Parts: sequence; C-alpha cells; structure tokens
Amino acid sequence: HLPTRVRLIDVGPRDGLQNEKQPVPAAVKIELVHRLQTAGLKEIEVTSYVSPKWVPQMADNHEVMAGITRLPGVAYSVLTPNLKGFEAAMLDQPNEIVVFGAASEAFSQKNINCSIAESIERFAPVVEAALTKGIAVRGAMSCTVGCPYEGDIAPERVAYLAGLMKGIGVQRVDVADTIGVGTPRRVQAALEATLQHFGIDHVSGHFHDTYGQALSNTLAALEVGVWNFQSSVSGLGGCPYAKGATGNVATEDVVYLLHGMGIETGIDLDALVDAGAYISEQLGRPSGSRVARALLAK
Ligand code: HMG
Ligand code: MG
Repeated sequence: HLPTRVRLIDVGPRDGLQNEKQPVPAAVKIELVHRLQTAGLKEIEVTSYVSPKWVPQMADNHEVMAGITRLPGVAYSVLTPNLKGFEAAMLDQPNEIVVFGAASEAFSQKNINCSIAESIERFAPVVEAALTKGIAVRGAMSCTVGCPYEGDIAPERVAYLAGLMKGIGVQRVDVADTIGVGTPRRVQAALEATLQHFGIDHVSGHFHDTYGQALSNTLAALEVGVWNFQSSVSGLGGCPYAKGATGNVATEDVVYLLHGMGIETGIDLDALVDAGAYISEQLGRPSGSRVARALLAK
C-alpha cells in the first residue's frame, strides 16, 4: 500500500532557475520563495554556493537568502559543493546544506570537476562541519539511472555512491534521474540500491520530466514506499551540465497526482498554481505544468 502523506521539496528557485540564460532578479527569486511557502511548501531549495563562473545565475545567493522572510516550520536548503561554498553559506544560516555527487564518473567530472572519490573527500569536511553546527545534511545523487556521457547506469553504482554518502555522515539522499531517461522499474532499482544504505524515510525521488516519465516514476517510487520528493514549480529547470535536460517534474502535477490518490501534501494547489503563474510570467513563457495550464484555462 502507498504512503498516506508525502513531503515535497520545491527545488524551483535553485534547480529550476540555475540554468536560465537571462538574469533573474534576486527580488523575483525571493518573491517565488514567498509564494511557495504561502502555498504550503515546508521545504524549499533556495540557491547554491558554487562558482559564479560555472553557474552565474546563482551568484546572488547571499542577496536571495537575506531577502527571504522565513516562516517557522519551513526549511530552506542550499547546495554547497566544498568548504568554500559551505563557509559562504554559513553567513546565510540555511537549515540544510546539500552536497551533490554523481553515480557516473563522467558526470562528476563535468559537473563538479572531480572524480566521485575526490568529491567524497571534498564533501567529508563539509558534512562534518555542518553536523557540528547542527545543520542538516542531504546528499544529491545525480545520474542514478542514466548519464548523458556514459549511458545506462547500473544500480550497483548507485549503491556504491549511496554507501560513500552514508560513510561520511550524509543524513538523507536524493535519487536523481538527472536527464529523465528513467522508467518505473529502473527507477525502482535505483531506489532499492539506495535503500541498502539509507532507511525509507531518508530517501527521496528527484525526477526530471525530459522523456515524460516523471509522474510514472513518482508512482513507482511511492510503490516502493518513498514519500519524499523533489519537484519544481512550473516544471522549471534543467542542469547546465546535462545537455537537453528539461526541468524537474512540475510540483503542480505531482500535487494533483497525489491529491487525486488521497495522499496528503499540506499544499494548496490553487496557491501553488499562482506561484507558478508568477514565475512563468516573469520568465515570459508558459508554465511547464500541464495541471497549471489546464486549471488556468478553465
Ligand atoms: P573547481 O574549478 O574544480 O574548483 O570547481 P577550484 O577549487 O579549483 O576553484 C576554482 C575557482 O572556483 C576559484 O576561483 C575558486 O575560488 C572558485 P578563481 O581563483 O578561479 O577566481 N570556487 C568557488 N567559488 C564560489 N563558490 C564555491 C567555489 N569553489 C571554488 N563553492 C566547483 C569546483 C564545484 C566549485 C565548480 O565545479 C562548480 O561550481 N560547479 C558547478 C556545479 C553546479 O552548481 N552544478 C549544478 C547543480 S547540480 C544539479 O543541478 C543536479 C541536481 O539537481 C540533481 C540532479 O538532477 O541530478 C542536484
Ligand atoms: Mg536536478
């Protein structure tokens, strides 16, 4: 039987906007975060502390974090790939930091300029420092099903990365289908490989909808018992180091699926659609959410 409630992390402000070619003003990102929390999101991935040469869109990390009016009970997370990023993030008091690795060697090199083993060496002191300060630590695992450079990724390689993440003290992990090539059984295999090292409460699904499989994969993950998911309002996004990758599955679409199945999310779908309409208008393009487009057309 399926979980009766689901926790969604909206990664739109970070994963969604990191790849936008036009600069998105910090004020717009802040307003997006405010609208997401108004809609009932309890976890929001706000920004990243990475090289502004690599990802210029996230260079306003301090401004965005400082501009958010925080609500009690909402956790704001940020990406920190190394100690330099971690130290910068500490000025802004996030509730959770995210280290991000890949199940594929080639993707690790392209995304963070080091091997999987080296990435773990870089993450270890970051994780230790965060835990010492009482800050939660999540590990994002990219390319757990397929890689733009290496093709299919075997579940054993996901298990290997999950084991390394566990070994350095990461508390929970995201199983990401970065390029959206996964189908339900393959996604379940990646999740099960991860469950060798992390309990079910500490594994989340992060699905991109490039091939239109993300909702099917969400249902497949629910069947395994997973009840934490990342999604992006309006289906924003794409990874700069995964050519052709489209956005995350739209939060609106996931919420519609879950509510339709009687699964609680604590999210107000109408308010969420408003948040998506806001950012779509700012970006000057239609929403990537089918549910939002249908509801707005009514
Ligand atoms: P590097 O070049 O190997 O690092 O980059 P380095 O230590 O040799 O430093 C080189 C330069 O970068 C130096 O500056 C450093 O100061 C600077 P310079 O002397 O040349 O002026 N630098 C930094 N600046 C700001 N913040 C930092 C930082 N670290 C070094 N933290 C690094 C390594 C990881 C920084 C780089 O490769 C990078 O920024 N990569 C971008 C990674 C990224 O943001 N990718 C997108 C997010 S991952 C994703 O979207 C996938 C996910 O959604 C899950 C999924 O769907 O798969 C999570
Ligand atoms: Mg992603």
